[in-house]
Amino acid sequence: MQSCLTPSSSLFLVSIPPRKPINSPLQPFSIKSSIDKTPTTKPKPAPAPSKTTSWVSPNWLTSLTKSLTFGANDDSGIPVANAQLEDVSELLGGALFLPLFKWMNQYGPIYRLAAGPRNFVVVSNPAIAKHVLRNYGKYAKGLVSEVSEFLFGSGFAIAEGSLWTVRRRAVVPSLHKKYLSVMVDRVFCKCAERLVEKLQPFALDGTAVNMEEKFSQLTLDVIGLSSYDPRTFYPIGRQIGVLCKMVPRQIKAENAVTVIRKTVEELITKCKEIVEKEGERINEEEYVNDADPSILRFLLASREEVSSLQLRDDLLSMLVAGHETTGSVLTWTLYLLSKDPSSLPKAQQEVDTVLEGRLPTYEDIKNLKFLTRCITESLRLYPHPPVLIRRAQVDDVLPGNYKVKAGQDIMISVYNIHHSSQVWERAEEFVPERFELESSVPNETNTDYRFIPFSGGPRKCVGDQFALLEAIVALAIFLQRLNFELVPDQNIRFVHEAQPTPK
Ligand code: HEM
Repeated sequence: MQSCLTPSSSLFLVSIPPRKPINSPLQPFSIKSSIDKTPTTKPKPAPAPSKTTSWVSPNWLTSLTKSLTFGANDDSGIPVANAQLEDVSELLGGALFLPLFKWMNQYGPIYRLAAGPRNFVVVSNPAIAKHVLRNYGKYAKGLVSEVSEFLFGSGFAIAEGSLWTVRRRAVVPSLHKKYLSVMVDRVFCKCAERLVEKLQPFALDGTAVNMEEKFSQLTLDVIGLSSYDPRTFYPIGRQIGVLCKMVPRQIKAENAVTVIRKTVEELITKCKEIVEKEGERINEEEYVNDADPSILRFLLASREEVSSLQLRDDLLSMLVAGHETTGSVLTWTLYLLSKDPSSLPKAQQEVDTVLEGRLPTYEDIKNLKFLTRCITESLRLYPHPPVLIRRAQVDDVLPGNYKVKAGQDIMISVYNIHHSSQVWERAEEFVPERFELESSVPNETNTDYRFIPFSGGPRKCVGDQFALLEAIVALAIFLQRLNFELVPDQNIRFVHEAQPTPK
């Protein structure tokens, strides 16, 4: 299962006075955003207890699982959540985090949840999350790896053990500082400018635009053009678009995966030929090939011993892991700004002052402090993925003296930690200033695992810096050139979908 968070409907834009950035040589535009139903900043509330009569007791799920999995001798100290039928329908409807949040308020920061023949220990406490995430040897990815294989193959995002160690060590150096600064200029700014150009006609005639779709296309272009030679990426980009639209029609999704894999294999073969012909080798730590600064080129030039199929799956891991996640943060940040009359002008003012009408450079980004805090606050409120899954490899004792046995599946609810009133003041409110402007950008370490949108420990996201830079650049250019507002009366919800897992 792969989590996926999206607003349930399209986002916005309406014709309002055009933006006039200070000293901007660029033509500003206004945009209007559309959606379908009733707006709500919060996820849909959990439904009232079902009045439908059922032939089974409403507690059947819990009782069955109790007897099947841990019997009478449960000495773990972990309370068991009482799963009701209506909670299960929430789970099936894609809003997993809603019952998880409800149970946190009922049972506390750790509880056991029945889910068919398996049970999960659900964690909503930063100290326990820290223990589990930092002890990767004791806690593997488990279920996530099993069900995502059809998409990731043996890619390092789901690999375990020595394969993961070797491949992560090979890929991480490709995302060095110089590479990121080249990407800001050549890819992030270019793609964001192209998006703004595409939005101009809508801004001019005031047509509503689905910004979720636009941001999804933007982030796909960005990760594709950063991973492969831009001259060859576009065919795969189209297939990924197809794949995303096909979900959950499994057979078509499988076909799309086959085509994407074949295309990436061809790209690898072509790039390998060029690297061989030129006898290219990495000769400095922050190596970038000027003609083709892509991750693929770096990995081939590094001459690590790796099969083409492994390389293919690693690159696809990056593409999948880096696409919807960044699209989601852009969409939610724009949404939150559109609902906050004080933060939006503040962010626009900062962009105008720092950039003075030009495109952002790598060096500018550290000065876009308020915009960065808006993005981190959006990641706090709408983390994508909202849960992290692990499986205990050995018996262990968690902080608080809770016992888990080898084989126990664990769900760390990032959503619960980020929304808990025990962890955050005014937890449900959008307050970008909660993260001090003059301090470091928040991460799992400096918040002691209270803020973990990129996870933590050895399996932490490798693309966190990439994603933050990409989001800051895209929003800075968007705010610099466009005005926008949310189309009223829409039902915007936070959902959590399972990707298809064909046999
Ligand atoms: C806002 C955007 C992003 C968010 C919120 C995000 C979040 C995450 C999270 C939570 C994990 C760890 C899952 C776990 O612990 O089980 C992860 C892993 C990963 N992410 Fe990201 N990610 C984002 C963008 C990116 C980008 C842009 C890339 C690629 C450039 C990327 C590449 C990866 C990879 C390869 C992994 C697997 C790492 C491993 O298992 O060793 N992510 N991401």
